[in-house]
Amino acid sequence: MSEAAERRAVPFGDSEYWVERYEREAEDGFEWYPGAESIVCEELSHLTSEERGWRWLEIGSGSSALASKLAGEHSSATLCVSDVAPNVVATMKERLLQGGAQNLEFAVLDATSMKCIRSESMDLVFDKGTLDAIDCLDHEHAGTSRCLSEVRRVLNPGGSYLLVSCREPEGRRRDFELGGLRLVKTVEIKGVDPRCPCPDAYLFLVQKAETVP
Ligand SMILES: C[S@@+](CC[C@H](N)C(=O)[O-])C[C@H]1O[C@@H](n2cnc3c(N)ncnc32)[C@H](O)[C@@H]1O
Repeated sequence: MSEAAERRAVPFGDSEYWVERYEREAEDGFEWYPGAESIVCEELSHLTSEERGWRWLEIGSGSSALASKLAGEHSSATLCVSDVAPNVVATMKERLLQGGAQNLEFAVLDATSMKCIRSESMDLVFDKGTLDAIDCLDHEHAGTSRCLSEVRRVLNPGGSYLLVSCREPEGRRRDFELGGLRLVKTVEIKGVDPRCPCPDAYLFLVQKAETVP
């Protein structure tokens, strides 16, 4: 089986798969697209100057170090760390609060249906590898569309979505347009770590468009 076919065979879109996986490995932490978290933080430094009172949301945090890096570098913004897997959210809460971070909230959240997040309540949404997992839910990418329309709904006017993904840029551009989001910038992230199943990835900076097509 080719590597791509093998990836498709893993049920990355199923929450049960992640719950079971985090039972085994969340204590150790696992980083998708390792190294990309520094590139997200770098991109963010160009994006924000005044962030006091800002509200940020990370969807599908897993056990990644991105949240602690963001919270540490941006103490005047409040970051909600979320995932569909309750066990990894519990692990992250324990780990990050022990680390002393004050500006964090935690939520068990399905990014395709974020009912507990108010519309237009977030200034930034972060996603490293989560939309890629949701892509695997169905061939028609209906889950992907639901997630992007939820991201659009929770973003404030002018809000941004920072996505790290291995899907090629033309495909993603179409996904964003259909979801009423506008691609502003693409950064290629080459060979982050050869152990990663998709060593090449992209950082997409996306803004909420005023209208949905
Ligand atoms: C590829 S991993 C990325 C984890 C982490 N962001 C990182 O960079 O290491 C995908 C993550 O998305 C979560 N996930 C999958 N489907 C989801 C959904 N519908 N809503 C929210 N999170 C989801 C999984 O539990 C998993 O933590």
